[in-house]
Amino acid sequence: MSKVIDRNDIEMLVRRHLQDLGMDSEAIPKKEYIVAANWKMNMTDKETRKFLEEMKGVNIAEHIRVMIFPPYPYLYLFRDMLRYERIAYGAQDVAKEEKGAYTGEVSAAMLGDMGCPLTLVGHSERRSYYGDTSEIVAKKAKAALEHQITPMICIGETLEERKSHRYEQVLKEQLDAVYGELKDQVKDCLIAYEPVWAIGTGVIPTLKEISETHEYIHQVLVSYGVLAEKIRILYGGSVNAGNVRDIASVKYVNGFLIGGASLKADSFGNIIRLASEV
Ligand code: PGA
Repeated sequence: MSKVIDRNDIEMLVRRHLQDLGMDSEAIPKKEYIVAANWKMNMTDKETRKFLEEMKGVNIAEHIRVMIFPPYPYLYLFRDMLRYERIAYGAQDVAKEEKGAYTGEVSAAMLGDMGCPLTLVGHSERRSYYGDTSEIVAKKAKAALEHQITPMICIGETLEERKSHRYEQVLKEQLDAVYGELKDQVKDCLIAYEPVWAIGTGVIPTLKEISETHEYIHQVLVSYGVLAEKIRILYGGSVNAGNVRDIASVKYVNGFLIGGASLKADSFGNIIRLASEV
């Protein structure tokens, strides 16, 4: 696939040029990062309220976008308590169907109705425990977009697929299914690359592996002929305060999807601060 120059390349060239001229390269706007929290099936009403209170004390830099994905029952707390804050919230999943006899499901229309702006789709736990195939994930993303909800589409390979060097093929298949359903609308999605073997394990890929994989994902998006530069690619899997700065420095990493380290406001706030310093 052809090499493309992206925003980061241009930014780096301009910075270097300004430095050569003895000018202040800090004047250039910083790269934007998304710092997203996936709470999974954790937290209580009380803990959520406490978290949101504590988040008011966290200084969020201009170039950082914070997103939190709580369990469904707490979405209303986010909507009502965050109205004037710089934090977006979203659901952890959404039904692919529009409405009707689907006990236990929550539709995109319902999320849209309450003003929810985001949803995760295709998290590896949904794929492995609840049978969400890439085709189902694509339909869920489509349903979300139809209600002006931005889907964060999670993709990732298992350890076995990584070790047998099939991960590129696996990621491409996951993306192809999404592109097959959404076509040009892919540009309105967020992508979270989460190697399954790094989720909740404390093991993260090397920076080289993250860099190569994010670049690969970017190139696949470029090959679709959509506005790939616009599509933010987040990294997820064992992100914490100790590794976030290193991961943030990797090209094509536009943010993080954080599970375990996002459940306490001080830990999550610390990650937000560290990401903003990169
Ligand atoms: P983790 O989870 O940060 O606990 O590894 C990430 C995720 O599953 O989104």
